[in-house]
Amino acid sequence: MFIKLVPSADAPLDLLLEADPSTDTIRRYLASSSCYVATIGNETVGAYVIQSMGDGIHELMNIAVTPAHQGKGIGAKLLEHAVNMARELGARRLELGTGTFGYQLTFYQRAGFRVVAVERDYFLIHYDEPIYENGIQHKDRLRLALKY
Ligand SMILES: CC(C)(COP(=O)(O)OP(=O)(O)OC[C@H]1O[C@@H](n2cnc3c(N)ncnc32)[C@H](O)[C@@H]1OP(=O)(O)O)[C@@H](O)C(=O)NCCC(=O)NCCS
Repeated sequence: MFIKLVPSADAPLDLLLEADPSTDTIRRYLASSSCYVATIGNETVGAYVIQSMGDGIHELMNIAVTPAHQGKGIGAKLLEHAVNMARELGARRLELGTGTFGYQLTFYQRAGFRVVAVERDYFLIHYDEPIYENGIQHKDRLRLALKY
């Protein structure tokens, strides 16, 4: 697997939509972020988007693996790459926002991320359409952080 930085205009929107259902939101943060894409041969298998928030804090805005390749460890490798990249860029802390339930929470906690805040009603306020997973509506968002 090969991971490389791509211009925001070349970011794989369809793939990033797996992690964030709003095209508008993705386009907004892509403009001021760095997008890294993972490929196997000619096939795009994953991507992540990272942004500097200033004051030594970087945020993982999006991470996604193509459905056919999920559950094979690609996401863990991408997340490790993002953690190392933020460190190289001088981060003291890498933050992200995620739902309050689901396998994604396990995925991040396994990599050492800790819950630092709960943003109540975040998904109700910031998204036009309701977001369901396992038949449960996502309402609140957790803020997770990894301190270096
Ligand atoms: C989250 C994501 C990036 C993880 O990438 P991945 O390549 O699947 O990750 P890994 O294989 O390293 O491990 C992920 C763990 O989640 C589980 N998992 C992965 N995809 C899953 C799915 N669709 N449903 C349920 N569990 C899943 C895996 O089984 C694994 O757990 P295990 O080691 O206990 O078996 C990827 O699943 C994805 O793109 N999901 C959709 C987008 C998303 O939710 N992004 C995060 C937004 S907060």
